[in-house]
Amino acid sequence: MRILNLKKTIFEKKRMYFYYLIIPFLLLIEGRFSLDVNISWISSYILIMAANSVSFSWINNQVKLFKIHIEYFWTYMAILFLTVALFPIGYILFGVYGLPVFFGVLLVAVIMGNESAMAAAVTLSTVATVVGNGSFNVFAVYIISSIGAVFLTKKFVRRFDFSKASLWSLIITTSMLLSLEIGFYPYQIHLKDLIIGGMNPFFSMFLAVGILPYVEYLSRIYSDIGLIELGNLSHPLLRELSIKAPGTYFHSVVLSNMCENAAQRIGANYVLGRVGPYFHDIGKIRRPEFFTENQHGVNPHDSISPMMNYFVVVSHVKFGEELSKKYRLPLLVEDMIKEHHGTRMVSFFYQKALSENLNVSPDDFRYPGPKPRTKESGIVMLADSCEAAVRSLKSPTPSKIRNMIEEIVNRIYNERQLDDSGLTLKDIDQIVEEFSKVLSAMYKNRIEYPKNPKEVERVIKLAKM
Ligand SMILES: [Fe+2]
Ligand SMILES: [Fe+2]
Repeated sequence: MRILNLKKTIFEKKRMYFYYLIIPFLLLIEGRFSLDVNISWISSYILIMAANSVSFSWINNQVKLFKIHIEYFWTYMAILFLTVALFPIGYILFGVYGLPVFFGVLLVAVIMGNESAMAAAVTLSTVATVVGNGSFNVFAVYIISSIGAVFLTKKFVRRFDFSKASLWSLIITTSMLLSLEIGFYPYQIHLKDLIIGGMNPFFSMFLAVGILPYVEYLSRIYSDIGLIELGNLSHPLLRELSIKAPGTYFHSVVLSNMCENAAQRIGANYVLGRVGPYFHDIGKIRRPEFFTENQHGVNPHDSISPMMNYFVVVSHVKFGEELSKKYRLPLLVEDMIKEHHGTRMVSFFYQKALSENLNVSPDDFRYPGPKPRTKESGIVMLADSCEAAVRSLKSPTPSKIRNMIEEIVNRIYNERQLDDSGLTLKDIDQIVEEFSKVLSAMYKNRIEYPKNPKEVERVIKLAKM
């Protein structure tokens, strides 16, 4: 274990050197392909290195997913390289305000969030400054317009949000260019700069929209727009699930409803909360009859040993993971598949093994994990157990449902399955409330119609009064 940790630390350090020293150099070489760059190599290298080190240290500490998945690091870097590779073209064709800084910032914002986009804006605006021969105006215009546009748009859930961000960038760029030119050089407004600066965000947007599906496919880091497409239930895996395991399909749809509401309530990613649960039990496509929700009287578990029972049940996680790789599902959806049972015990079959006097330990009957590492994944784990338990209630009422949910959530919390998820106690309280609402609306008893004719008459009379 210690050797593994040591190896990990060395790799982390190497990655840091690579990022702090080599990447700025490569970005610099790319950027200096632009003509007329007079600033010295050493000065430009120091500028880019400083900007890059500060911005990347910031996201490395702030954005948890960079620590969980190495793909975030490589994708972020690839987007920076791609953007800077386009700088010489923009510069030669349109001049210093034609650099597609917004293209890179927008792409990072859409797939990794606004915090990461802010870091990308710092690095890309600094490289643009080098191309602009150290001009403060260039730096100010690019960094403020790109960060401002992304934060004013807040979330990229619809395609229209791309246009909204570009419009914000256009407004900020042109107003900044106007005020800088009027402030520093009265009566010398460069119309060409204004037009190019204003059009640049739109060209960048078209480019970003066009390249987004390729980035998603290659990196398996999906934007909310890509996730919504995936969640329209026409994915081949979901169609297969609905035919082979209709019970699991129904369970997944209910879970999706629960997780979306809970994620929205606690401020987590509700699009991921809705789409991830559709796929969480996708591994049940293989041997669906071994899972309660798909059984109709016959339970094939009765004819095999407890250890075999355990292997069959646990295999749905492993097989689900294989399918998610094969179909290139988003990394965060794959996480939900692997983490929705955490390292919990399959207690039913453990008890069965004990009753058959087998020499087993509780650890022989655990899911392989890992425990949920994101809030959304933690919500799926809670929803999964709550839905199954509430479904098994004999005559569910809202209070029975609420008590059952509280009991299940407390149990999972006390097993410390949620330790790495980032869910707070306040989050958990709100999740319980949302689950109770959704499940009560679904499973509570319907008021029965009176069967006695006299009773029916009495009700009708009362209704007429
Ligand atoms: Fe499962
Ligand atoms: Fe499930």
